[in-house]
Amino acid sequence: MTKDLFKGSILFGPVPAVLVTTIDKEGRPNVFTVGWTGVACSHPPLVTIAVRKERLSHENISATGEFVINLTTREMAKMTDFCGCRSGRKIDKIKHFGIELEAGTDVAVPSLKKSPVALECKVRSVTELGTHDLFIAEIVRNKVEKSLIDKNGTIQLGSAGLLAYCHGEYFSLTRQPLGAFGFSVAGKSARQARHQKKFQQKKLKKS
Ligand SMILES: Cc1cc2nc3c(=O)[nH]c(=O)nc-3n(C[C@H](O)[C@H](O)[C@H](O)COP(=O)(O)O)c2cc1C
Repeated sequence: MTKDLFKGSILFGPVPAVLVTTIDKEGRPNVFTVGWTGVACSHPPLVTIAVRKERLSHENISATGEFVINLTTREMAKMTDFCGCRSGRKIDKIKHFGIELEAGTDVAVPSLKKSPVALECKVRSVTELGTHDLFIAEIVRNKVEKSLIDKNGTIQLGSAGLLAYCHGEYFSLTRQPLGAFGFSVAGKSARQARHQKKFQQKKLKKS
């Protein structure tokens, strides 16, 4: 490949476009779209979201120390775009879209019924970076759509049609994996094969 040079900027993707639910001090829910989200640590399970100070959601998360990351699907693309273009300061997005909520389990914040996976998060720290503040939060509960759990108890997340955002456009994942974790080294050593098998059989602990 032959590359052109550009000034440093966020040319990065694909990223998940997630819907983050929050509540205000009075318990009123809001939902907004986040592309700048990521995994920070496996144990403890830590994730990040980068949020601009002016968002209603920033105010809500700062007030309660909680939020829920709702993974999105192809069917949720319009809702995801809308919730990223309109502020809860001006419009009740939940009413406008007729979004169905379900009560939080380990947090007071509700999750989206339509979302296949909801990650209930408690904030550990906030770092001011510039345009965005980085919230690092611990996932205290995972809620997973039952139809994505196969008879062996394995979560088939690749079948959920998850939504991705790439340089201004939305895409959805199709069930055509290029390989499973470790496929490039499978058969090279017994240790690697064992690791691959362990990963493929990985199950989330139920509680
Ligand atoms: C695809 C997409 C990704 C977005 N990612 C972020 C993000 O990572 N952080 C952020 O602060 N705003 C992000 N936004 C913008 C907010 O979602 C948007 O300003 C929203 O209206 C804020 O809602 P609120 O004021 O109700 O919190 C994104 C918008 C879209 C459409």
